[in-house]
Amino acid sequence: MAYTDKMLRDNALKDKIIVVTGGGSGLGKSMTKYFMELGAKVAITSRDLEKLKTTAQELEAETGGKCLAVQCDVRHYEEVENMLQAVLKEYGRVDVLLNNAAGNFISPTERLSANAFDTVIDIVLKGSKNCTLAFGKHWIDTKQEKSTILNIVTTYAWTGSAYVVPSATAKAGVLAMTRSLAVEWAKYGIRSNAIAPGPFPTKGAWDRLLPGDLKDKFDLAKKVPLKRVGDHQELANIAAYLVSDFSAYVNGEVITIDGGEWLKGAGQFNLLEAIPEEMWDMLEAMIKAKKNK
Ligand code: COA
Repeated sequence: MAYTDKMLRDNALKDKIIVVTGGGSGLGKSMTKYFMELGAKVAITSRDLEKLKTTAQELEAETGGKCLAVQCDVRHYEEVENMLQAVLKEYGRVDVLLNNAAGNFISPTERLSANAFDTVIDIVLKGSKNCTLAFGKHWIDTKQEKSTILNIVTTYAWTGSAYVVPSATAKAGVLAMTRSLAVEWAKYGIRSNAIAPGPFPTKGAWDRLLPGDLKDKFDLAKKVPLKRVGDHQELANIAAYLVSDFSAYVNGEVITIDGGEWLKGAGQFNLLEAIPEEMWDMLEAMIKAKKNK
């Protein structure tokens, strides 16, 4: 078995109806594809309908599954409600909301305009809120028994991070919403969980976040104790588990999948990794010599 293998058994998501915001490309597309391979019927949403349609056709051809493309800018509540109605019209039901759509700019915060800051907050926090509220109201109104919200956050949702302050601020809010609703909406059979991915390269986001040769200068794999970036299938495996009935007792959890990256930045003495083996011999001798004085 390899970490790039598909984890769940065939038909693990059979007949589940799953909506993936931002599902037209990147990690959203990878997760969507795996859901379809496991028997789910999916809807993908974003602002770019042409891109969505191309992706939907591609995924249907590759998996033999069903993928509906629905245009929706998650920043606008009425568009989210229309998207939900389009999904219900096509499939008659919806079981899972995957809040994956995101936006991010790397920039010193003082260089951002108020509108730039708002743009990221609106997509990430307000967009996740809009979808969560619309889907949650629908599930509660219709007394649907089992439904799931899965939010894609990031490890800097709890540590914060310089140079991506709007994103850190918004993702912290999404994490708080995940945990709050896990408790409040459990009585309606709605589970809420999150995944916090570390570095998982995608063409779009990475080229935008680390343009030019920044990618080579700031090799994110070097920050990871496991010395590699993530493979999309590893993330898809966890996402599929969290939206499946296998995780029926998992609620309010955030699963970090980052090779140990954020903890490496946190531990006070973690930088001692740079010390070579011979130097440890010397250091030990020096410390023991001090003790014997
Ligand atoms: N750095 C700083 N400010 C930026 C910026 C950047 N890289 N790019 C845009 N802005 C500013 C704009 O100048 C504008 O502010 P202003 O009106 O004061 O000038 C504001 O942000 C909105 O920009 P605009 O291009 O109109 O936003 P948009 O709504 O069309 O698109 C995104 C915003 C985030 C959706 C778009 O950049 C995008 O599609 N990004 C890819 C998705 C992504 O970022 N994924 C990463 C996930 S981690």
